Amino acid sequence: MKITIRLIVSLVFVVALAAFVFSFYQVRGEKARLEVELERRSLVLAESLQESVMPLLQSNSLDRLKRLVERFGNRERLLGVAVYDSSSNILTATAKLKPKISQPFPPVVNSIAENRPTGSFIELDGKTMYLFTLPVSHEDRIIGAMALFHDASYIDIRLKEIWKHNLLRFVTSSLLIIVITLLVVRWSITGPIAQIAQWVRELRIGGRAGQSAALPRGDVLAPLISEVTHLAKSLALARARAEEEARLRVNAESLWTANRLKEHMRVELGGKKLFLVSNREPYMHIREGRAIKSIVPAGGLVTALDPVMRICDGVWIAHGSGEADREAVDNNDKLRVPPEEPAYTLKRVWLTKEEENGYYYGFSNEGIWPLCHITHTRPVFRLEDWVYYQRVNEKFADALLKEITDEDSPLILIQDYHLALVPLLLKEKRPDAKTAIFWHIPWPNPEVFGICPWQKEILIGMLGADIIGFHIQLHCNNFLDTVDRFLESKSDWAQFSVNRGAHTTLIKPFPISVSFEGFLDKTAAGEEREALKKNILKEIAVQAIYLGVGVDRIDYTKGIPERFRAIERFLEKYPEFMEKFTFVELGAPSRTHIKRYHDLLAEVEETVDAINWRFRTKEWKPIVFLKGHHSHETINPFYRASDICMVTSLHDGMNLVAKEFVASRDDEDGALILSQFTGASRELKDAIIINPYDIEATADAICLSLKMEAADRSERMKRMRAVVKEYNIYRWAGNLIADLARLRL
Ligand code: G6P
Repeated sequence: MKITIRLIVSLVFVVALAAFVFSFYQVRGEKARLEVELERRSLVLAESLQESVMPLLQSNSLDRLKRLVERFGNRERLLGVAVYDSSSNILTATAKLKPKISQPFPPVVNSIAENRPTGSFIELDGKTMYLFTLPVSHEDRIIGAMALFHDASYIDIRLKEIWKHNLLRFVTSSLLIIVITLLVVRWSITGPIAQIAQWVRELRIGGRAGQSAALPRGDVLAPLISEVTHLAKSLALARARAEEEARLRVNAESLWTANRLKEHMRVELGGKKLFLVSNREPYMHIREGRAIKSIVPAGGLVTALDPVMRICDGVWIAHGSGEADREAVDNNDKLRVPPEEPAYTLKRVWLTKEEENGYYYGFSNEGIWPLCHITHTRPVFRLEDWVYYQRVNEKFADALLKEITDEDSPLILIQDYHLALVPLLLKEKRPDAKTAIFWHIPWPNPEVFGICPWQKEILIGMLGADIIGFHIQLHCNNFLDTVDRFLESKSDWAQFSVNRGAHTTLIKPFPISVSFEGFLDKTAAGEEREALKKNILKEIAVQAIYLGVGVDRIDYTKGIPERFRAIERFLEKYPEFMEKFTFVELGAPSRTHIKRYHDLLAEVEETVDAINWRFRTKEWKPIVFLKGHHSHETINPFYRASDICMVTSLHDGMNLVAKEFVASRDDEDGALILSQFTGASRELKDAIIINPYDIEATADAICLSLKMEAADRSERMKRMRAVVKEYNIYRWAGNLIADLARLRL
């Protein structure tokens, strides 16, 4: 309340001051204006009267003078007139006035003596009057004078009225200010704070936050609300973990959890830190207007590894590719992340534009990416890109070597196809380092891989690692086949290892996953699916009954146009779903400097337009394409509200969108349509598995999943959830790290 009173008193004081200054100047101006007007009127009247008085004075006609004076004596505010001879003796005056005028009358004496008109405000008989005197001359000789008495009291009355009105205005506006301040403070500050307090109280006493009180959406309190939401999430997560741990202890189960991984790092690895290297960074700083904002880039690698690093601490080395990245780091190019809850160190490596073009866009994404994904996009290999690829791999290796200088047998996880040469560069300098490279994309058969002009260098580079990980066994087989075909080395198909010289590399599948619990949206638990769906449909301005969702980087490997064509065919084939089914595509533009990606984006947009144009009605359309970068917080409600999720990759190492969808469905509902060409399809056998090239069958799969019995759908979802829960990212990291730590070099 104190703040409210302080606010009101300050506002009223300022308004009072302003009202006073304003009134003061208004009164002053009005007074001057009225006085000038009175003077002007007196002068005009006196001059017109002079013409009549002058002949009468000259002829000394006192009777006629008297009549004239009486006639003029009662006009408007003119209270009277007096006429004097040249010696200032009064000759005649308005009857009521005469007794009140002293003799001699100084103003008249002065006016005659100085031979000029004078005007002044005087008090006469307790009244304010304006006296105007005018000498009357004939042929340059003063023959008398006139005095005009005007009532000036109306000026004071007018000025008092102004003060009164302004006082009234001030009182009214003060009352309004008080009322409005009280309302605004109540609506925008005290009300929302009470709501937040209630929300936090519910959270603290163990209930679900948001059960009876919702968090307000305030602008003033937005930063506080955001912090409170984070706090609630952390608390809910910590509780869930503790409960899970307790349950596991009771059941003596061996589920990998965040805590177990933490314990594993602490007890079995003596608190060793992890060193992780990847091209893509987990947090990127960008500019939004004048502010700098941190975002999480789209892509499976970051989704999977950030939870691991949060648990294990350590250093993640990655390319600083955000436009504001340099402004967020310290002198060593480092910062602690996640920004809202720092848990590990991110070290940024800077690349020149040429390096980025050659190494990232060129060799990695125009060469190796299409080489490893069988999607009929031709790989391009240019010598200059290869030169940059080698140079940047050295740069990453140097950055890593610097970080591990003081570490004894450090554990290093190298990520993906951008950094295939780093394992060897590292091993040459630090043979004691235990290194694994994890290949997040498929590995093709030797015939396909054989078209790469630098196949040997890439294989040798990778074999510098102690472990090479792929998502599935097939990719391990392909890799071993490729090594057999192109290198002089000894492959051990029983152990799944490669010996080159004195060094052995294990080749093993580690199916990557998500942090199951990370996708439970605890703060939104109160919001039921139907309410969420209603909100989403309202936001996208579509009326529908069924909702489908797709979440992708716009990449030609994801089968996005194929998916849309299947939706088109589905509506043709099953017209009963017209105006009932809408598919939302949350698509993040990716690698758009590459022509193939640029063209794909245009193709996706054109396909959506054509299908919508064909089917849309006034209030419905079949596809809503939300192009842009979407955070996990934005995507999660779409997962939770949708009836189906479609993953139609033409080729995909794993595909974590499928697992994210399953993890977020704690209502044990929703159907997953999943391409048979994803690594995930080997684990999520209860998804509706499709061949994305088969448009007809995919259209049928959409129909099947929408018509599926609720019990069947729920059974499938339960089984998929059990898989994702058990084969989570902590198991992935735990197994990989345990294998690495166990190695005897
Ligand atoms: C795939 C790759 C990752 C990559 C991600 C996003 O998942 O395996 O290494 O980070 O795509 O692609 P981008 O080129 O944006 O890093």
